[in-house]
Amino acid sequence: RAAPLLPAWAGLLVLSGCEGPQSVFRTGGSDAAQLEHLFLVMLAGAVVLWLGINGLFYYASRVSARPVSRARVEALILGGGVGLPVVVLTALLVYGLSIMPDQRAPGDGLRLRVTGEQFWWRVEYWPEGAEAPVVSANEVRLPVGRRTEIELAATDVIHSFWLPALGGKTDLIPGRVNRMSLEPTEVGTWRGQCAEFCGLSHALMAFQAITLEEAEFGAWLAREAQGLAPEARTAEGYAIFTAQGCGGCHALRGTEARGTVGPDLTHVGGRATLAAGILPMTADALTDWIRDPAAFKPGVEMPGYDHMDPDELATLALWLEGLR
Ligand code: CUA
Repeated sequence: RAAPLLPAWAGLLVLSGCEGPQSVFRTGGSDAAQLEHLFLVMLAGAVVLWLGINGLFYYASRVSARPVSRARVEALILGGGVGLPVVVLTALLVYGLSIMPDQRAPGDGLRLRVTGEQFWWRVEYWPEGAEAPVVSANEVRLPVGRRTEIELAATDVIHSFWLPALGGKTDLIPGRVNRMSLEPTEVGTWRGQCAEFCGLSHALMAFQAITLEEAEFGAWLAREAQGLAPEARTAEGYAIFTAQGCGGCHALRGTEARGTVGPDLTHVGGRATLAAGILPMTADALTDWIRDPAAFKPGVEMPGYDHMDPDELATLALWLEGLR
């Protein structure tokens, strides 16, 4: 008895994907709004074609029973088989091409470089006139009402930067730099995801985009640009970090730790998530992660530290979580 309702349930299931922080239908930026509109226009075009072609099929099945003039058959084929698709598809093409310049518009000052790594995102902010970047990871902060240019690069394999609530999707390809620009219109937190299969933990390569009012963004960037706070250097956590050799892979700006293999940890506790969007940024999660990263992210480059003294590990995690 429920069988006839199956298509309806399936439809509801599909529609349930239309909300949430990673939806094309819940936009927080002008680029995404344009793409949403493009989708609806294309859907309308597809509906016109579908109805037109099926109408012609129906008509043909009706008239085939009786004799029809050759001229009418030719009119049907030319009008329905050639004319209708050409008109609809040309209109869609022209509309699609007309929004492309907007999607590739240059930024107005701030520049970001996002580099895909297995399996996380290196994020570098280049404010106008800056000589060195402000480095972060797995989180893209953007000012609302301004167009930010994003350079997309990769060091190992191809990844893809997909942030449907704010804009399109662009591949990150080793050996070249792709570009996109985004203009958020709404303050909020949005989810992005790697959209090109890049290895074992591809599905666990997420990120967050946080859109802020311009002044708030400026204040955040100024804080983020500072090196490790002096008081953090005298804490026990810093001694453990140094003794364990964490600085070989991770950087703490302004200290001897200058590793570039893994994410910059100067302000790691200020990020909303850990391990590229898959864990909350808490001391407990940090402890579990450092002890055995591969348990959360198969194929991760970071080795496990299960040999560490549990108290020292907890101290280190708590210290890292406090780096805001
Ligand atoms: Cu990176 Cu998939």
